[in-house]
Amino acid sequence: MEYSKRIYIFDTTLRDGEQTPGCSMNPQEKLTMARQLERLGVDTIEAGFPVSNASDFEAVSLISSAIKNCRIAALCRATKGDIETAMLALKKAVNPLIHIFIATSDLHMQYKLRMEPEEVLSRIYESISYAKKYAPIVQWSAEDASRSDIDFLCRAAETAIEAGADIVNFADTVGYSTPSELRNMIRAIKERTKGIENVDVGIHCHNDLGMAVANSLSCIGVGVNQIDCTLNGIGERAGNAALEEIVMALNTRSDVYRAHTGVKTEQIYRSSSMLSRIIGISVPKNKPIVGENAFQHESGIHQHGVMANRATYEIMTPESIGIKTSGIVFGKHSGSHAFFERVRELGYDLGQELLDDLFLEFKALTEKKQEITDFDIEALIASKTHTRQFYKLDRFVINSGNTIRPTSIVRIEKENGEKLEAVATGEGPVYASYEAIGQILAQELTLEDYSIRSVSEGGDALGEVAVRVKAGNRTVMGRGLSTDILESSINAYISAINKLIALGALSYTK
Ligand code: KIV
Ligand code: ZN
Repeated sequence: MEYSKRIYIFDTTLRDGEQTPGCSMNPQEKLTMARQLERLGVDTIEAGFPVSNASDFEAVSLISSAIKNCRIAALCRATKGDIETAMLALKKAVNPLIHIFIATSDLHMQYKLRMEPEEVLSRIYESISYAKKYAPIVQWSAEDASRSDIDFLCRAAETAIEAGADIVNFADTVGYSTPSELRNMIRAIKERTKGIENVDVGIHCHNDLGMAVANSLSCIGVGVNQIDCTLNGIGERAGNAALEEIVMALNTRSDVYRAHTGVKTEQIYRSSSMLSRIIGISVPKNKPIVGENAFQHESGIHQHGVMANRATYEIMTPESIGIKTSGIVFGKHSGSHAFFERVRELGYDLGQELLDDLFLEFKALTEKKQEITDFDIEALIASKTHTRQFYKLDRFVINSGNTIRPTSIVRIEKENGEKLEAVATGEGPVYASYEAIGQILAQELTLEDYSIRSVSEGGDALGEVAVRVKAGNRTVMGRGLSTDILESSINAYISAINKLIALGALSYTK
């Protein structure tokens, strides 16, 4: 058998991905995603930056307790305080990894760090040797490596290795590099850095010029054996290298790369959809691998070719990333036992109270929709879990038409059963309903984004609404799900409000 190199996947969806505006997740949502990343088979899950905020700290702790089959990484600056906080958050992890970063380019050292190069080297040495006392695996990352002086970069990497780093990682932080430049950078590091043969070497690429995936792949074959990436390519600005593209490129073109990962590719589609649902950002239709059009053949010539032999226009199969035409799973007569079993098979580990609650929703759904698929069940789970229900929708009545200004009466219920109602008009029925809820709350709320998509196929498909809502300096996503899109819209708004209350951005009296 031909030799194939193992490439380690360092997934940073929950850290670099999540720190992107509009992609934020609460700790429970991150835990749900982490469980899916574990099923996907990534090697490392970077769960957060614990010192940066309490929610990241909590997420890293929760994930450390729950995930046993991946390394759990926590990000730190090169300071003792950051390292101590990260170690505390990682306390329960079976395989903890401390990830220390510091910039190495002149630009960053002078203007951001305000440090002399020699001071940066001392910091690297001190922080890594300190972290090594507590953590079995320490990764060092050179921020803005691709714009750094190569001699200095090699000295910095050598210092990190001398101090005990197990992995040295090089970031194209602003997505400036080209594939050949990055490949040459890694080649030079491999040739000139003492001790580099004893550590793992990683690459971390951003997508500002649309080259993150190509840049990452260009470093295979010259010594990189770890790639940092995110699902759906989410991340700062234009995002990070997309995990699904890296993995499928390695799979499909193993003849070129002679490399493989431990990712279970049949979990890719589910992972991508779950993330998209949680953060409320849909995957562009033409996105490679996971976009809706990725396996569709529109033109007659292509359809004809595919019917004769799929290989004519298909270089991968939809099944290889886990797209199945999910047949009928459930209907009106399905019982709770079968439903709970299916939820478990889908990989969710939910408490009985939540399961009972979900089953009631599921039953209500079977009254409106004949065939319930896995996609519907997962959408139901995503809409129900994760947030305390400070408010829930009790009822609404909307009067709308093309010759009148829509009016909405909305009644919402507090946890103690108290019901609050308001009436409002608006440009459309959704806006009128949001106005009514705004009147009940009497607090400043801004709707920043609204999107709707159908979860499955058919006239009775579930409509899933995602909204981005801001209160004070916090922005959250809310989701709502129903066969009635106005109900989905109202529920999405209420779910965002519940999250904002949980974050303390809106007040709530019991
Ligand atoms: O882009 C970057 O430089 C980073 C580092 C923390 C690795 O995300
Ligand atoms: Zn980054």
